[in-house]
Amino acid sequence: MQQLTGRTAFITGGASGIGLALGRAFAQAGMKVMLADIEAEALNAAVKGLQGIGPAVRGVACDVSDPGSLERAAKSSYEAFGHVHVVCNNAGVAGGSGIDDISIADWRWVLDVNLMGVVHGICTFLPHLRAHGEGGHIVNTASMAGMLSGYGFSPYSASKFAVVALSEGLATQLKPLGIGVSVLCPGYVHTRIDESARNRPQRYGPPRTPRPGSDAAALAAQVTQRLQCGLDPHEVAQRALVAIRENELYVFTHADMHLEMQERFAAISAAMQRAVPR
Ligand code: NAI
Repeated sequence: MQQLTGRTAFITGGASGIGLALGRAFAQAGMKVMLADIEAEALNAAVKGLQGIGPAVRGVACDVSDPGSLERAAKSSYEAFGHVHVVCNNAGVAGGSGIDDISIADWRWVLDVNLMGVVHGICTFLPHLRAHGEGGHIVNTASMAGMLSGYGFSPYSASKFAVVALSEGLATQLKPLGIGVSVLCPGYVHTRIDESARNRPQRYGPPRTPRPGSDAAALAAQVTQRLQCGLDPHEVAQRALVAIRENELYVFTHADMHLEMQERFAAISAAMQRAVPR
């Protein structure tokens, strides 16, 4: 989608981090921007901040794990700005760590937000994008954790692998309709993702705090440190903007992780050589 000026973007998880940076980049490109988020106070602050760039910025309360909530947020966006053209299914949470520290509730929360939130976004907006026929683009935020399994058995990684897979299938199916799809796969970015528990609804119960001295505690500290040294979300947003304009499916931001990815693909390819010949 080359022409962005005057078009409308809807961004979930728009109150913080990568979502907020996407909102800023879109507003700077002359787009109308609807930020949707579960965190009311941060959302109000984000909207106020971006209104300094362009007046056509609004916010709407939204829980992406609830399809009805997303439908209502979409309706608010249509009422404010008319047709939506760019949909960023970006809201996400990090939860769970070592195999003994992940509860079933952790699995449900992370999958409900990171995977079902993306599915709900697609189901909400696809009929609208198809019907207005003005072209459109869907950006699904996955992660390098959707390409490399790293620590392994983790709801976060499982959710992100799923987002990569569904984005690949979606891109193929929407190509004939002129609707583009990108899957955003950053490595560490300096955001508040390590404080995701701030938005954990009560229905999932309290998050577990890793035992001091445990592997899980060490991992959590390591993640926080890596996030602090991570990429500026602004750089991720700029990369995403190019991907929307050029209709790129895979969007990477961390060139230094290329080798690790090649090693994974090489191991899979080597295993394929041992497959039963037919
Ligand atoms: P963040 O915590 O700064 O922002 C996430 C936003 O999502 C917050 O504003 C939060 O209120 C919102 N949110 C959480 N649950 C929600 C729900 N149920 N409904 C609506 N909004 C909800 O974190 P960040 O890093 O900006 O995360 C954005 C996306 O980027 C996530 O999908 C995350 O998994 C992904 N990502 C982040 C990386 C990083 O290193 N920070 C790396 C790769 C991917």
